[in-house]
Amino acid sequence: MATIGPFETILVDKADGITTVTFNRPDKRNAMSPQLHQDMYDALTALEGDDETRVLIVTGAGKAFSAGQDLKSYFRDVGDDQAQITRNKRVSNDWRNRVLRMFPKPTIAMINGYCFGGAFPIVAACDFAIAADDAVFGLSEVNWGTLPGGMVSKVITMQMSYRDALYYAMTGETFDGRHAAEMRWINRSVPLEQLQDEVMTLARKLLTIDPVALQATKEAVKQVIEMSQEEAFYWLLAKENEIKWRHSLAGRGSEGIDKFLAKEYRPGLGAFKPDAE
Ligand code: COA
Repeated sequence: MATIGPFETILVDKADGITTVTFNRPDKRNAMSPQLHQDMYDALTALEGDDETRVLIVTGAGKAFSAGQDLKSYFRDVGDDQAQITRNKRVSNDWRNRVLRMFPKPTIAMINGYCFGGAFPIVAACDFAIAADDAVFGLSEVNWGTLPGGMVSKVITMQMSYRDALYYAMTGETFDGRHAAEMRWINRSVPLEQLQDEVMTLARKLLTIDPVALQATKEAVKQVIEMSQEEAFYWLLAKENEIKWRHSLAGRGSEGIDKFLAKEYRPGLGAFKPDAE
C-alpha cells in the first residue's frame, strides 16, 4: 500500500478504496493553521494520483469539523510579513478551491461538528456534504469585524440562495445541520451517531460507479456553470470524446450501451459492472 504522510496536523486513513482525511487539531477545534493548509495541499496532491484512493472523505477529529482559519497563527502571528501572508493565502486557497474542488475522484464532506468561516469553502468544494443534525455552522466574520473573505463570499453566493447567503453573512447567526439540509446547502443531516455509516454507505455506492464517468461528470457540472450555452455545448462535446478515448485506452469500448442493448441491465435502475472487473 502506498503510504501518504505522516503529517503534523492531519490524519490519512486508507481502507478498501475509501480514503479519509481528518483534520487533527481537536484541542484547537481544527482551526486551520498555515501548517494545516500546507499538509492538506501536500496530502491532496499526493492522493490525486493514488490508485488506492477511489473516494475521498474529509472530516474533523473531536467536536469540530473545522473552526475556520486559525485566528492566531494564520492572521496574527504572521505580523506584517507580506510575502508570508500572500504565500499562506495562496496555499490556503489552492487546496480548498482548486485541488479539492476539482479532485479527480468523488469527495464527501463529513461535517461532524463546528464549521465556521474558512471551513465553508471546504464543504462547498466537496461533491457531497453530509452533516450531523446538531453540527453548528456560522459565518462569524462580521462578529470579529471583517467580511467573509478568502473566497467564502464567492462560494456562499454560488451555492446558497441570495437571501440565505446575505442573512447568515450579515448577521453572523449560526444554523445547525438540519437547517443546512433544509436550505439545500448540504445533501442531508443525520444524528451524529449515524454520520459515519451514512457517509460510508454513500462512499461504497460511489465505488460501484465507473470512475471515468464520475470524474467527467463532476468536471462537467463544476465547469459549465460559468460558461455560456455555446461554450458549454462545445466543451461537453469535447469531454464526451475524451471519455470515449479513455475507455478505448482501457480496452472498454462502449460496454455500457452494449450491455443495455443485450438486456443485461437497465441503466435507469443501476450501474453496469465492467467486464474488466
Ligand atoms: N482560531 C484559533 N484558535 C481557535 C479557533 C480559531 N478559529 N477556534 C477555536 N480555537 C481555539 C481556542 O482559542 C481554544 O484554544 P486554547 O485552548 O489554547 O485557549 C481552543 O481552540 C478551544 O476553543 P474554545 O472556544 O474553548 O472551544 P468551544 O468548544 O467552547 O467553542 C468555537 C468552539 C468554535 C465555537 C469557538 O472556539 C469559536 O468561536 N472559534 C472561532 C470560530 C470562528 O469565528 N472562525 C472563523 C475563522 S475564519
